[in-house]
This record gives sequence, C-alpha cells and structure tokens, in this order.
Amino acid sequence: DDAAASGASARPLEVALGGLKRLEYRGYDSAGVALVGPGSPTAAFAKKAGKLENLVAAVAEQPLPDATAAVGHTRWATHGGPTDVNAHPHLADEGRLAVIHNGIIENFSELRGSLERDGVSFLSDTDTEVAAQLLAREYRTAGDLTAAMAATARQLEGTFTLLAVHADAPETVVGARHDSPLVVGLGEGENFLGSDVAAFVAHTKEALELAQDQIVTITPTSVEVSDFAGNPAEGKRFTVDWDAAAAEKGGFDSFMDKEIHDQPHAVADTLLGRTDSSGRIILDNLRIDESVLRSVDKIIVIACGTAAYAGHVAKYAIEHWCRIPVEVELAHEFRYRDPIVDERTLVVAISQSGETMDTLMAVRHAREQGAKVLAIVNTNGSTIPRESDAVLYTHAGPEIAVASTKAFLAQITAAYILGLYLAQLRGNKFPDEVAQLFDELRDMSRKVQTVIERGEYVRATARSMQAADKVLFLGRHVGYPVAMEGALKLKELAYIHAEGFAAGELKHGPIALIDEGQPVFVVVPSPRGRDQLHSKVVSNIQEIRARGARTLVIAEDGDDVVRQYADEIFWIPQAPSLLQPLLAVVPLQIFAMALAGAKGLDVDQPRNLAKSVTVE
Ligand code: G6P
Repeated sequence: DDAAASGASARPLEVALGGLKRLEYRGYDSAGVALVGPGSPTAAFAKKAGKLENLVAAVAEQPLPDATAAVGHTRWATHGGPTDVNAHPHLADEGRLAVIHNGIIENFSELRGSLERDGVSFLSDTDTEVAAQLLAREYRTAGDLTAAMAATARQLEGTFTLLAVHADAPETVVGARHDSPLVVGLGEGENFLGSDVAAFVAHTKEALELAQDQIVTITPTSVEVSDFAGNPAEGKRFTVDWDAAAAEKGGFDSFMDKEIHDQPHAVADTLLGRTDSSGRIILDNLRIDESVLRSVDKIIVIACGTAAYAGHVAKYAIEHWCRIPVEVELAHEFRYRDPIVDERTLVVAISQSGETMDTLMAVRHAREQGAKVLAIVNTNGSTIPRESDAVLYTHAGPEIAVASTKAFLAQITAAYILGLYLAQLRGNKFPDEVAQLFDELRDMSRKVQTVIERGEYVRATARSMQAADKVLFLGRHVGYPVAMEGALKLKELAYIHAEGFAAGELKHGPIALIDEGQPVFVVVPSPRGRDQLHSKVVSNIQEIRARGARTLVIAEDGDDVVRQYADEIFWIPQAPSLLQPLLAVVPLQIFAMALAGAKGLDVDQPRNLAKSVTVE
C-alpha cells in the first residue's frame, strides 16, 4: 500500500491524486482520498476498488468540497480483499478523522478486540481501520493529533506508515513511520508527504528523509518531527536529483518500453565517476574500512525477484575476479534459515526500490550477526541503504513499470564495479587488467543500444507467438540467470507459464517437457570463450531440436555454428563472456513486453503484482 499527502495548497485534492498517479505502480487494487478544510465538520472522502482511474472517475462524478489538506492512498491488499469498503482512507471519530496506512499491523486482532469491548464497531476487515479507531481513542484523551499519533504508534506492532487528517485541524497532516517508507517534500506555503519522492517531485525537489519511528506534522508553513516518545527530532535534508519528466513516458506507449530504451543510459550512468584519472576504481561513499573488505572471506548476495537474478550474475563475476566464495540467496529464505554469517562476511543486498521488506529484514538479520552489509540500490532516501554499512547506488533513474528492466542492467553493472573494486583492493588483478575490464564495461552501453535497435525482429516473433501457453528458457554459466530472468519477465507480463533452466540440467529432467513445437529460448555463450561452454550449449540445442523443440536462439554476432540449429536467431554484439548478460537479457525483455502487448495486457501494471513489496 502507499500514500501521498499534501499540506495546505491551492489544490490539495489535485496534488494528492497527482501523487497517487505517480505511485500507482507500487500497488493498485484500490485507491482513496480524504480531505479536510475550514468549516467542514467531517472529513470528506472517496474510495474505490480497482485502479486509480476508478477513483478519479468517482470524484469527477461526485465532486468533493474545497479543502486545505488531503491524504490519498493506493492499496495492495494484505488484510481484507480489494473492495470499496476495504480501500483507504478509514474513518473514525464520527467521520472527523481519516487515516491511510501502508504496512501490516500484526497485533491488530488483539487491538480490535479491545476497541470492540469499548463499544467501537468496524466497517471493514482491515488492520488499518483498527489503527484509525485507536488513533480516535487516543485523540479523545490527548486532544492533539500529533500526541495521539505518537501514543497510537507506541501500541502498534508490525510495520506502518500512517497518515491522518482531522476536521478539527484542517491545515494539518500527521504521519508516523515504522519500518515503512515516508518522505517529506518541502514546498513554499505548502508541504507534502509521500512514500517516495516521486509523489511530490512535480511540486518540489527539496525533501526531508525521516528515520524509523518518527512522527511528522506538516502544515502549509511548518514541518515538525519527533520520536514516538514525543521528543523533538530532525529529518535529513536532501535534494531530489531527477525531475518529474524523468518519470513520464516520454513518447513511448508504456513505461516499460521507455525503460527498456533507457537501458544504455542506466548502464553508462551507473559507471560514471567510479574511476580516478589513473583509471583506479574509487568508491568514495562506501563507508566500510578497506581493511575489513580485504579480510572478507565470504560474500552472500541477498535480494528478491529480478534483483536476485542480478545477484546470480554477480556471483559468477566476483568469484572469477576475486576468488572469494559468493552465495546468492532469496532474502526471505536467508532471513529464516539461521545462516552462517560473521564479521568476515560481506552481505550484498540488491534492491531497486530500497524498500522491499523481505530484503530489509535480511539486512537487519545479517548486521545483527556481525556481517557488514553493502546495498546496491536505485532509490535515494530509501530504507535499505540507510540501514546498511555502505551503499553503491545504481543510476537507472526512476523505474515505474512494475516488472524491472533498466534497474536489472544497472544492478548487474554495479555488481561488476564491486567485483572489479574488490579485485583491485585485494590484489587479485593487476591495475592494468582492472582498467581494461572497466573499459570493456564502459563499451557495453553502446552495445545495449545496438540490441535495442534490433528489437523489431524480436517484436515480430513475439506477435506470432500469442498462442504459446508454455515457454522454456535455457542458459549456462551467466546465461543461466539470464534464462531465469527471461522466464520471469514472461510470467509477469504475459501470464504465460515459463521456466528457466540451466542448460546442463536439461537431460536430468526438464527435457521431458519438450514435445513437437515447444518454444525454447537458448542463451548461447560466446564461441570465443574458453571452457567449451559454447559447444556444450550447441549440443543442448541439438538435443531439444531432435525432440521437436522450436529453438529461439540468442547468439553473438558471427556465431556461424549455432545458426544452423536455430529456428529464430536474435543476434547480440560480441562481448566478454562475463558481461554478456547485459546484452542477452534485452531481447527477452522486448519479447515478453511485445507478447503481452499483443495479448492486450497492461505491461506497466501486471495483475496481482506490486513494484515495491513493503510487507513480508
Ligand atoms: C517485486 C517486483 C519485482 C522486483 C522485486 C524486488 O516483486 O514486482 O519486479 O524485482 O519486487 O524489488 P526491489 O525493489 O527490491 O528490487
């Protein structure tokens, strides 16, 4: 769930709806707004199941009164299905108080019982309504919304960002933050709150980062921060370094299409400023002592979804370059399996949003065990970097489409930077070798552009495959995570059953899935590489072809050997073997997008998914 709010402004409703529009990618199964203004005895509100456009239509049909403050919310259902009633805001105090919430309140049934014993009756099944009723009870005692919010926050367990407006204080919005995101936007004669700066960047680039367990009270002319005990506190000011246009579609049909086209920049920008004049890699905001990094004897990469596949690529590169053992694990599995972690373990947490709760919990667990945590994150001001020992930001710019594309390329790029940096620091590579690899990495941006320019053939192939109901993906070495990511894209966007396999594993089981006409994508390693990987994959292609598979092959320019075994072939420029994922995944992204588009599906907001899953 996510929230956006404005302090007083000429048009708080428009500001809130505009903010929700920009945050809608984070969750979109219902939406709502509440407003307060001078002279209004209760909070006005509207809420609707489904996408934000349903709410916008409802508000157009039945206009809401003028107001001085507004809160708005888009929801990704946890407790209670996506219905009008369960949508936020939730009202209490005879309709005078309106509350929106992001997170999960774990002790809600106990609190609900206590409130019911007090005579409170509930309209919805949500944990949020419990928070609203609790806040109303505290407000009756405290008589002040900020103090009541602090008292409420002290009683809640779980995770939450809560925002509230009350008809008694029509220029005030109060927020509380505990393990869910909340950022303040500082305007002139107006102030804002949002789960992400994207909510208010159209109005101001000046922002304030809140810490965990803080309360914030905004009016048109003031911003006050305190802790849950009521002691004054301060947020950390920062300036947003991208503008609203960066979050617009820029002439493309979808954010996904735009973001795929942004990829050469995502790679190039992530590499910017990482070397000094002599070509040495410098990571100045790393904040982990070099001596600690030299003594690391194990790396564990933790992440979820696409970011986890970037982690798999990182493993191949870092192990090869640095000779440090690297494990890759889904953050939620890592967290609850009693992992072996100590002071000599470097945990690398990869996350586009920096807010994924599963990843955050794993970060905390790793630090409790004494590990150092380095975050590879795309979103400034987010929680994971703040709670890590070090951060290496990817510079992909805002990623709006739910399924990740450019952030994936930027994450892989950052992982290569980290690998080369560690190799340099630990003396695994000579400086000129590091510099040469870095130059090859810089050259990848141009090659990604070439793959994108060849996209039309991929799109045409996708359009001809609308009837496919099962698609397999094969790869070896770094091609294996690419195969898994290709399958994930197809599941997410086109709702087609898709699976990525290690090509060598094929004969141990998955080959039983192959029958006449079964489409199989195969990522082919460079024929120039060592280790006979190329010929092994070519053999795998022959094995599946012999059983009727239709082979869709991603191969390097000039690979004449594989050509004869391909039903369709998507060429990518030549590149060093370890860097190939940056190129090989691009046709798979384009394929999934085009196939989903041909089926008439919404590629930016696939069903059931959320961009940033801030619950465990
Ligand atoms: C969600 C998104 C995925 C994303 C994953 C991790 O499940 O739908 O696209 O890969 O979260 O997100 P993060 O922000 O941590 O990279």
